Amino acid sequence: MRKRNRVWKAVTFLPFILFLIIGASMGHAEEARVKESSCVRCHTDLGGVYAEPITGLQESVHAEQEVACHDCHGGDPTSFDEDEAHSTTKDFVGRPSFEEIPEFCARCHSDSNRMKRYNLRTDQLDLYKTSHHGQLLYEKKDPNTATCVSCHGVHEIKSSDNPLSMVFKANIPETCAQCHSDSGRMEKYKTSVDQYDQYVRSAHGKMLLEKGDPRAPTCSDCHGVHSASPPGYKDIAATCEMCHGAIAKLFKESPHYYEQTSEEAARCVDCHGDHNVSHATTVLYDGEDEGHCGSCHEPDSKQARLAQLIKGRVEAGINEVENAQNMLKQVTGSGKNLEKLEEAFETAQSELIKARAATHTLSMDQINEHIGLVIEEGKKVEQASAGIVKELSGRRKGAIFVLTILGVIIALVYVKIRTLEMPRE
Ligand code: HEC
Ligand code: HEC
Ligand code: HEC
Ligand code: HEC
Ligand code: HEC
Ligand code: HEC
Ligand code: HEC
Ligand code: HEC
Ligand code: HEC
Repeated sequence: MRKRNRVWKAVTFLPFILFLIIGASMGHAEEARVKESSCVRCHTDLGGVYAEPITGLQESVHAEQEVACHDCHGGDPTSFDEDEAHSTTKDFVGRPSFEEIPEFCARCHSDSNRMKRYNLRTDQLDLYKTSHHGQLLYEKKDPNTATCVSCHGVHEIKSSDNPLSMVFKANIPETCAQCHSDSGRMEKYKTSVDQYDQYVRSAHGKMLLEKGDPRAPTCSDCHGVHSASPPGYKDIAATCEMCHGAIAKLFKESPHYYEQTSEEAARCVDCHGDHNVSHATTVLYDGEDEGHCGSCHEPDSKQARLAQLIKGRVEAGINEVENAQNMLKQVTGSGKNLEKLEEAFETAQSELIKARAATHTLSMDQINEHIGLVIEEGKKVEQASAGIVKELSGRRKGAIFVLTILGVIIALVYVKIRTLEMPRE
């Protein structure tokens, strides 16, 4: 039995051992190419800034794919003579200048043959050229602008799904903020430097950075990854629509949507803000603060009256859901079958969400339709729960009466027994 066990163990480990051997020899081939090139050897000996690229590269996505020093910089990786290793006849590029960097990276990244096997897009340079950043580089040679290495790093570049990457979703705001929160760098453009501070405190920022919820937008979701530019006037609904599709669809029916009006009316960001989007509540219908109805419409106008009408209906719905919830709490755990009530409560809740989304149409008919259902279903829950409470308290009273009678009888019997047991004197 023992022998057979050993044979089996050897058989099951065979693929693993083979895997190790093949892996080691492949690893060795890569090591020879990447780690034992003359570039790495001599630069390791040089130390300091000349050796830093080596440790950076070792941790990068490029090293994983065997991209070596000379794949980017050219030169002769077999020669230990500095001049020969750095020879321009061997296409040595040395350190690319600031303006050369996009093409330097695009040599591989825009080459679809080369990138096919990695399933990577090859449009980064084309998009970059259309971006505000690219225009500043190509038209103005402006050294303040972002190139590939400003957002990705140089030798330590990592894939965007690596949490240590500068372009990992939750790290992107800080990557952009290096420049966009730097008032010295931004001074001459008169562009504000508050996007990051606002974003961090916004509903979106808190979701991503505090709760780690990747459904929230990061800078590049709204601005495009390589085409970074602010969404134009007409693109804003589309930007928000990527994620808030249902609301955007309703909004397009409203007189605020530019296609419904001859004027430039309200856009998503006019009421909610762009970088400072916060939790939306009915306070938006009151007062003249930025984003509130009164910031654009006169206090006594028909629009202001409609605002108060909508607010009243939404709050009636909120109150109804609250009341229904409180009643439902009183009867949970009563042992009664509450399936129907819970169903009605869920309908009330979801109709309230629909009503709040429908406020974007500004159509009282649509809002009333949903609020009507909230109140209908909510009342059902309230009434049925009240019935159960009444029934339960009736039963409780009956039980207390029976228990009291029983108690009195027991007490009487006890007294009687005691008097019988007393010694006769
Ligand atoms: C025999 C030593 C030696 C070898 C081999 C060598 N280098 Fe260098 N390298 C140096 C020294 C010294 C410097 C700094 C002086 C200079 O800028 O020329 C340097 C600088 C550089 C720079 C920076 C240039 C700049 O403009 O700042 C790059 C990039 C570079 N090497 C890449 C490579 C690559 C790629 C290889 C392999 C193909 C390589 N080196 C092989 C010694 C070497
Ligand atoms: C993915 C392409 C890429 C690879 C691979 C790469 N480099 Fe670089 N390297 C660059 C770029 C781009 C710059 C210019 C960065 C800048 O100007 O900010 C640079 C700059 C340098 C510099 C100038 C000093 C510095 O850090 O900015 C040296 C030295 C250097 N590289 C050496 C190496 C060595 C040695 C290797 C191999 C271990 C290597 N590089 C691999 C792209 C690469
Ligand atoms: C010699 C060709 C070559 C050059 C030059 C090059 N890369 Fe790469 N790059 C690759 C390969 C190959 C990969 C690996 C693809 C993979 O594994 O997904 C890669 C991966 C990447 C990734 C990760 C993509 C992902 O999976 O999210 C980024 C980011 C990147 N490169 C940026 C750059 C930047 C910035 C430069 C210029 C400084 C540059 N590359 C220069 C070949 C190159
Ligand atoms: C303004 C910042 C910024 C600049 C400039 C920039 N990138 Fe990116 N890049 C990003 C971000 C952010 C991502 C992550 C996208 C994601 O995960 O959705 C990314 C992703 C990538 C990827 C992974 C594949 C993809 O397209 O999503 C590659 C490759 C890449 N960049 C290469 C480049 C090259 C090459 C350049 C220069 C021509 C460049 N990047 C310039 C921010 C930048
Ligand atoms: C290396 C610095 C640097 C980095 C990193 C950087 N930017 Fe920029 N960006 C600039 C400069 C400089 C401008 C020009 C400012 C201007 O003209 O208003 C600019 C302009 C812009 C604009 C256009 C602003 C306007 O007024 O039209 C947008 C949008 C933008 N950047 C978004 C981003 C995003 C998103 C990121 C991160 C993925 C990012 N940037 C990373 C430097 C940078
Ligand atoms: C929810 C979408 C969204 C997110 C997330 C977002 N932006 Fe914006 N951003 C916008 C919109 C919309 C505008 C244009 C505002 C307008 O035209 O009224 C804008 C404008 C800008 C501008 C131009 C100057 C200005 O303030 O108007 C810069 C620069 C900018 N954003 C950078 C960033 C940076 C950096 C981040 C991440 C920290 C970021 N944005 C995150 C939507 C967004
Ligand atoms: C990448 C997806 C995405 C984009 C783009 C996006 N959002 Fe959001 N947003 C979310 C998610 C996810 C939530 C949280 C879930 C929810 O409450 O709907 C949220 C929450 C909100 C809230 C708070 C809701 C509340 O009261 O709790 C508002 C308001 C909002 N977004 C407005 C906008 C506006 C305006 C834009 C365009 C400038 C925009 N969003 C772009 C994903 C996105
Ligand atoms: C005229 C001002 C205005 C415009 C324009 C506007 N909203 Fe709203 N938004 C509101 C108000 C008011 C509420 C509801 C507050 C409430 O019911 O408590 C709201 C609620 C929301 C909510 C939260 C819904 C929920 O279930 O709590 C989101 C998300 C949202 N809006 C996104 C958008 C998007 C995306 C756009 C553009 C397509 C947009 N809004 C356009 C005023 C506006
Ligand atoms: C950014 C400015 C702005 C904000 C904020 C705003 N509106 Fe408007 N609204 C307009 C403009 C502009 C028009 C089109 C011209 C007009 O009829 O006054 C309009 C049109 C309307 C109309 C249609 C009027 C008609 O004659 O058909 C109603 C109703 C309305 N708004 C209600 C509201 C309510 C309710 C809010 C708050 C939730 C609000 N608005 C917030 C700018 C705004």
